[in-house]
Amino acid sequence: MHIINLQKNITIALPKGRIATSSLALFEKICGTDIKFNDRKLVSDYKKFRFLLVRNQDVPVYVEHQASDLGIVGLDVLEECNSKLVRLLDLGIGKCKVVVGSPKYNIIDTTKPLLKVATKMVNIAKSHFASQAMAVEIIKLYGSIELAPFVGLSDVIVDVVETGSTMKQNALKIDEIIMHSSAYLVANPYSFYKKRAEILAISEQLSLLINHKE
Ligand code: PRP
Repeated sequence: MHIINLQKNITIALPKGRIATSSLALFEKICGTDIKFNDRKLVSDYKKFRFLLVRNQDVPVYVEHQASDLGIVGLDVLEECNSKLVRLLDLGIGKCKVVVGSPKYNIIDTTKPLLKVATKMVNIAKSHFASQAMAVEIIKLYGSIELAPFVGLSDVIVDVVETGSTMKQNALKIDEIIMHSSAYLVANPYSFYKKRAEILAISEQLSLLINHKE
């Protein structure tokens, strides 16, 4: 394994939650050291690397504003926020699907004048139903989306499915897959221009790692 020594400082926004451990593990390998966030600290420095621990949906915000040069973020989040970041590499981790789901024993009534859709992915949901010429009322939620049809808040949901157990345990079925997603390494376009050698070296090492060539 070639351990990277950077000439310029590079900041990387890592997502909290499910892909935190696997994305951190990739950087631990290319840095050749453990990367620890002590207690509730959200920053960790190692040589020229600075790692930030942020909410998944906030990763593109940090990178777009160049508070971070690089980020790791799901394709679903990138599509939802319509970000213009440089997509460098599909890391193949955090695989999931964005789906339309509804109660197990119901058939979606597509003739209903206004289908109620609960989701935290408003833009993906809007453009999906628009492409099918279906009139929908989007109800924005921030989590526990699977609860909405159960209590009559919505007819269907648009949400992320990974293992499928949340939908299953809440008596929902998948009606349609809107997109497949996995975590991407993304860069701020200006950082990519200014720190091209460093960013390409990191991307190349990660690529070798995930393709088991190292
Ligand atoms: C996501 C998603 C589902 C769940 C799916 O929620 O919104 O609720 O994961 O995962 P599964 O298919 O493995 O069961 P998350 O855990 O991020 O929490 P949230 O409801 O607060 O958004």
